[in-house]
Amino acid sequence: MRAAIEASRAGLSVAVVSKIYPVRSHSVAAQGGINAALKETDSWEAHMFDTVKGSDYLGDQDAIEVLCREAPNDIMELERMGAIFSRDAEGRIAQRPFGGAGYPRTCYLADRTGHALLHVMYEQLVKHDVVIYDEWHVVRLVVEDRAVRGVIALELGTGKLHRLHSKATLLATGGYGRVYRTTTNALSSTGDGMGLALDAGVELMDMEFVQFHPTVLKRTGILMTEGARGEGGYLVNSKGERFMSRYAPKVLELASRDVVSRAEQTEIEEGRGVEGGVLLDLRHLGADKINQRLSQIRGLAMSFAGVDPIIEPIPVKPGAHYSMGGIMTDLDGQTSLTGLFAAGESACVSTHGANRLGGNSLLEAIVYGRRAGSKAAEFCRSTGILPFPDSALKDAALDIACIVKRDGGESQAVIRDEMAQVMEDFCGIFRNRERLTSGLAKIKGLQERYGKLGLTDKSDYYNNEILFVLELGQMLSISEAILMGALQREESRGSHFRTDFPKRNDKEWLRHTLAYRENGELKLKYKDVKITRFQPEERKY
Ligand code: FUM
Repeated sequence: MRAAIEASRAGLSVAVVSKIYPVRSHSVAAQGGINAALKETDSWEAHMFDTVKGSDYLGDQDAIEVLCREAPNDIMELERMGAIFSRDAEGRIAQRPFGGAGYPRTCYLADRTGHALLHVMYEQLVKHDVVIYDEWHVVRLVVEDRAVRGVIALELGTGKLHRLHSKATLLATGGYGRVYRTTTNALSSTGDGMGLALDAGVELMDMEFVQFHPTVLKRTGILMTEGARGEGGYLVNSKGERFMSRYAPKVLELASRDVVSRAEQTEIEEGRGVEGGVLLDLRHLGADKINQRLSQIRGLAMSFAGVDPIIEPIPVKPGAHYSMGGIMTDLDGQTSLTGLFAAGESACVSTHGANRLGGNSLLEAIVYGRRAGSKAAEFCRSTGILPFPDSALKDAALDIACIVKRDGGESQAVIRDEMAQVMEDFCGIFRNRERLTSGLAKIKGLQERYGKLGLTDKSDYYNNEILFVLELGQMLSISEAILMGALQREESRGSHFRTDFPKRNDKEWLRHTLAYRENGELKLKYKDVKITRFQPEERKY
């Protein structure tokens, strides 16, 4: 949406295609905040250092510099658009501590930051007369001679296929959290844009790096914001110990997410967990603070875990939360295909490297969304529209018809469930060669079964079964890319922890993994990391 606003401001005719209603986009669930060095005692350089360190030195430092330098202006612009941030005692934008940050620089709107920003973005789309095709699912990018000419989209309400012919196309489809069983991500987070890009011959970068958020509700995966620890919440094991003192003695619960999630998983696996999780204790914060700053998660904990955090600790565990990897782009969102751009979680610029800091994802969506929208507009002004191949619509229609015709095979739901379990069991927080090899074989087995699944719903109107089948195909490709990257990367860095290679190995692995498709097969190659200001050193919290 941020990209669309920028392109529209540049005078272009812009449309947003979204498989869900735009204000239901998963950004709505980003609770805790958005980072920017606003205060005189903070600096973009300090923000940059924390982000580079958080990335375990895999983030490209030119991209991180842009993110941190441009953040303050973007925050001010968000306020001018109507996102009124929470205030401190002096009436300035309030900022809370967040994991892995050496300064309290996370701006917030209580614990509904993403929700508020999403609604403000939507208002701006309306203001700028951006056309919105909601509940349309893009089934393919139309590419000829390595130039994108638009997309084919399925209108979910009617089952009709449409051609959208454009000079530039920008993918901003979010993450793929749903390839895991326990995830904070909405049902819609199925990595569609990454799958489309891979099919069109674009490289996905650093797919093995999957962020596990330390505090999600045990049964449902619903996020309990890092803001809860930022406000002073404790993590406690079955012995009542604040166990983070063993893993991150200096900053305890405010270490980076990979460190905290591994610590929790270790406590659970070594028998000090509480029924498969640990406890997030907020009681000492008091009712006023909880109601004022963490009211959404209080409500969620009461509704979905039957626990009032004012009275009892919340049972939590780590859950898949964020995709550090994604569609490889340059600093302006340009991919390796002419006319194709990407931004936000679906893209990999790369600002997060091996582990993202909390509060940097909304920021990336805003900063790089704006930049990609502006670059796409510049591109459109400099080029004529390329012809749209006649066969594209017919080919897509044939593919969909073949899926709908399938009778009698297994249900997509069974395969989807198995995929999520395989990823959780074989490619989770702790990985090793044996688990990853079997995980990969299992995903390949599921891909074979996918080719033979059957549909029971043959209708045109709101046929969710077709949507789920299309999503599943992409999720299986993404799972394969994650597993392949994880298997090859014989080191531990950020969120990728190999019990058989427990150390970071800069000599061999200070490089990005690129996954791409060649003759139908997924392959890997590697690319150097850009290091400008900060030389890699051991990461300690
Ligand atoms: O914990 C949170 O509020 C999540 C924020 C983020 O992922 O940036």
